[in-house]
Amino acid sequence: MSEPSSQALPRIFVAIDRMQREEAAADLARLGSEGYAVKLGLEFFVANGPDGVRAVAGARPLFLDLKLHDIPNTVAGGVRAAALCRPRFLTIHASGGRAMMEAARDAASSAGPARPLLLAITVLTSLDDSDLDAVGQRGPAGDQALRLAVLAKAAGMDGVVCSAHEIARLRREVGPEFKLVVPGIRPEWAATGDQKRVMTPREAVARGADHLVIGRPITQAAEPKAALARVLAEIAA
Ligand code: C5P
Repeated sequence: MSEPSSQALPRIFVAIDRMQREEAAADLARLGSEGYAVKLGLEFFVANGPDGVRAVAGARPLFLDLKLHDIPNTVAGGVRAAALCRPRFLTIHASGGRAMMEAARDAASSAGPARPLLLAITVLTSLDDSDLDAVGQRGPAGDQALRLAVLAKAAGMDGVVCSAHEIARLRREVGPEFKLVVPGIRPEWAATGDQKRVMTPREAVARGADHLVIGRPITQAAEPKAALARVLAEIAA
């Protein structure tokens, strides 16, 4: 598989959870253009399409969080199409199975050196053990997440999205190179909001997170650019 561009990726991905292009652009204008990558998700992509993604992200490194899940041929087509937006990271569901992830990996490789890194989604944090049982997946959720992360690595994924509380356990199983990308991050000075099991940026990085996904603590701050700088300083301290 071709290696992706070695250009350094920012530590922080700022989640822009907006549908309106103008609102997303305003969020990003307040943040400036450097020192972070932008995460755009399904809501924005469905509303604005690839042109909207490219226009709003501009030259910032992009994490396209589409969480693809379908038969291998269809996911491969989705990855090829998404790669035209030049994302550095793209998400797909590990529960789609090994053949689906391998098809995604091959499709990503066809984008050459600028190929996106593929991140697998293991168990959505909105699902608990009884939800897993109801869809016929074997819990506990932590065990299932680990099982899917190991499968994702074997299928050639570049990393997983995981909770900060799973980092240590996952790292032991998947080794140092596999990317662990961690949402649910709250600096001590930010409101928790609807996130239940949060961790500070500094602690998540100390535990071995490669990248952090942070939304509202930065985008809803009175001064987003200063909030981003504060997070980066706390990590570096
Ligand atoms: O505003 P906040 O920091 O909570 O945003 C976190 C981002 O990470 C959102 O885009 C959310 O969808 C995403 N995410 C999450 N928890 C997960 C997976 C993704 O909060 N387990």
